[in-house]
Amino acid sequence: DSLLVESHFRPLYHYSPPKNWTNDPNGLVYYDGEYHLFFQYNPYGDKWGHMTWAHAISKDFVNWENLPIAIPENERDSIMIFSGSAVVDKNNSSGFGTQENPPLVAIYTAHYHTANPDAYKQNQHIAYSTDKGRTWTKYEKNPVLDLGKKDFRDPNVFWHEASGQWIMAVVLPSEFKCLFYGSKDLKEWTLLSEFGNAGNQRMIWECPALIELPWEKGKSKWVLLISAAHPDSTEKYVGMQYFVGEFDGKTFKNDHPNTTTLWLEYGKDFYAAIPWNHVPDKRTILYGWMNNWAYAGDVPTSPWRGQMSIPRSLSLKKYPEGIRIVQQPVKELETLRQKHHHFENIAIDNVSDLLSGIEGRALEIKLEVLLQDAKEFGIRVAQGEKQATEIGYLVNNQQLYIDRTRSGMIDFSPKFPSKDQAPLQAENGKITLHIFLDHCSIEVFANGGKVAMTSLIFPDQESDGLSLFSNGGKIKVNYLDIWELGK
Ligand code: FRU
Repeated sequence: DSLLVESHFRPLYHYSPPKNWTNDPNGLVYYDGEYHLFFQYNPYGDKWGHMTWAHAISKDFVNWENLPIAIPENERDSIMIFSGSAVVDKNNSSGFGTQENPPLVAIYTAHYHTANPDAYKQNQHIAYSTDKGRTWTKYEKNPVLDLGKKDFRDPNVFWHEASGQWIMAVVLPSEFKCLFYGSKDLKEWTLLSEFGNAGNQRMIWECPALIELPWEKGKSKWVLLISAAHPDSTEKYVGMQYFVGEFDGKTFKNDHPNTTTLWLEYGKDFYAAIPWNHVPDKRTILYGWMNNWAYAGDVPTSPWRGQMSIPRSLSLKKYPEGIRIVQQPVKELETLRQKHHHFENIAIDNVSDLLSGIEGRALEIKLEVLLQDAKEFGIRVAQGEKQATEIGYLVNNQQLYIDRTRSGMIDFSPKFPSKDQAPLQAENGKITLHIFLDHCSIEVFANGGKVAMTSLIFPDQESDGLSLFSNGGKIKVNYLDIWELGK
């Protein structure tokens, strides 16, 4: 069975299912010591289809235990289980559990599949579990929310303390609208308001999430995240936009309706991210699908296809241009650190052989660079004789980039090879980079997480080298830390 040959791309610390297709993370919820990950899954193969919620749990975001399928499609080829969220119904508002044993409730989109693939229909269903998420029962009175629409999906629900109700954000993808509903019991939903006429309106809207993030001392802002995809119309194909504003329990008000669209990510492979509900220490932890609809069905991994990002802790920071999201890898990932290499005050003038003794395909790298007269500098990872992925900075253009045009296997899709860029200004003449490499992916957090870029790569197995470089002059590396990661 050639499909079951395990390829060397298997990530060490990013979640990937043992086999078969996955896309969006779903129902991210913390309950009784366990982080639950449900995810869009095809139990029958490594292409999209038969969408089902599969299930894994973790206590630390590093080690994942796979559990049996949580919510299967209704019967083969009838109702698929699309993306959604899950909550702990602490006060048993739904009546599905008891006060002593509060239920977990999942809220998701039912996709009514028909023989004519264009004649589908979508509405919102719920299911519940009273045994720590191990088994699920579909509510017998589904749907709980139906507009008779074709495209109406991805409900994201959270408890809004101030107004004492459950809030759902859900999208009308091709109308570029996010609707907000309120409920006392997770079964009956009332329309509160609509948000639209904003952001990117060429790519369909998917997977919304409304989150409250601390900002200045004692103050917070509300942020609306919306994924947007269009395999053909744009350079990036998918992306995640966000809006910063206020939410009063009814309406989301965008603080800056006239600013250009704000993007959470500048790489090609971060999508459909949602936060975990009920995280005990109140962190907002975002988790996304590390892939791109433009080529997700063709990526050369087996026997699985699709994987999740690393969990990222979100906060807000005020910059001269406005309040922006800052992303940091969760601190739990530090437990992966094994062998450590540390360097300080190194002058780089063109190519450097400083890192020639270090190799690995699961690495964490942190460096701070003081700009001097170089026009460009960077680090190459997953480097072999003929290939490397370059993470670099163009000094004059003030652009961070990931160049994967020579990263290894690139020709499985004409949309894959690319050099992606992100605007990034030096702060006090310095650029900092925090990089996570894991066999077939890199995630880069620049200047303390102000800019994030995520990219899949498919290098040869033996391409595991590293090098620093500068072009057209010198840089100084104030510090460089490299950890070889392991479990
Ligand atoms: C986003 C998405 C969602 C949908 C799911 C189907 O990637 O298209 O809108 O619920 O995937 O698998």
